[in-house]
Amino acid sequence: MEHVSSFAQMIASTGPLNAPHAGVERIEWPQLKPYKPDWSALRDTRIVTGSRFEPANAAFDVLRTKVLRLLRENGWKSIAVTSPTAGCGKSVVASNLAFSLARVVDRRIALLDLDLRRPSLAEYLQILRPPSMEKFLGGTATLEETFLSWNDSLAVGVNGSPVADPTGLLQNPSTQDSISKVQEVLRPDVTVYDMPPLFDNGDVLAFAPNIDCVLLIAGAGSSKMSEIEASERELARVTNVLGIVLNKCEYMPNRGAY
Ligand SMILES: Nc1ncnc2c1ncn2[C@@H]1O[C@H](COP(=O)(O)OP(=O)(O)OP(=O)(O)O)[C@@H](O)[C@H]1O
Ligand SMILES: [Mg+2]
Repeated sequence: MEHVSSFAQMIASTGPLNAPHAGVERIEWPQLKPYKPDWSALRDTRIVTGSRFEPANAAFDVLRTKVLRLLRENGWKSIAVTSPTAGCGKSVVASNLAFSLARVVDRRIALLDLDLRRPSLAEYLQILRPPSMEKFLGGTATLEETFLSWNDSLAVGVNGSPVADPTGLLQNPSTQDSISKVQEVLRPDVTVYDMPPLFDNGDVLAFAPNIDCVLLIAGAGSSKMSEIEASERELARVTNVLGIVLNKCEYMPNRGAY
């Protein structure tokens, strides 16, 4: 296992939420119901990478490039997104990364809300009648009932309400079967799992056997260096640490005219 993450990436605080942006062409993924986002509404929840024309995309496109390079070099396909503590921006980064990856031609991406304690992707992606990830993982709902498709390239599985025993469900063999089904049926090039904070519960460690690597999100101004280092060490015991994202940066380095 790696003990030092492979890259660090800064993402600016996205600031006020009022810039206009354009829509994108949408093609349906065969057997799944379509997901048709309203990008101007999604901007209110800071999901900006569905549109090519959104200035805030730049950092996510750089992140995508780094992620794709490392996945390719290592033969990895699944990423869990976590952070030391709550509120660092895991769900925002996981969603934006997933859309950014899905905009690469010929890629198929799956995005799953596995924060079974505080699911938020349904709200962030504005999926009004969310299916039950709990039922899907438990084997009582089908993949077609659970996942929506955006643009024939991103399959999204969200969750409507908190689960009573998340760690137990994540360790249940039915979860492993369901995760395998996603891989067999959808054949995603990359799977992104939005997960809870590392130090609040054992969910990430319980799910670690199902992932190739983990992306650690630190909140600028909220995550302590000691927490980030402790997270890296803890994660490196059970999986590969893909990199660290320093999110919500108020002050970015001056990159000059470009
Ligand atoms: N780059 C950013 N700039 C400004 N605000 C951000 C940024 N990323 C996330 N946020 C905001 O921070 C808050 C927490 O984000 P998010 O829900 O993604 O965090 P989280 O780590 O998933 O939280 P939780 O631990 O509760 O699951 C949200 O209000 C979100 O809009
Ligand atoms: Mg979250």
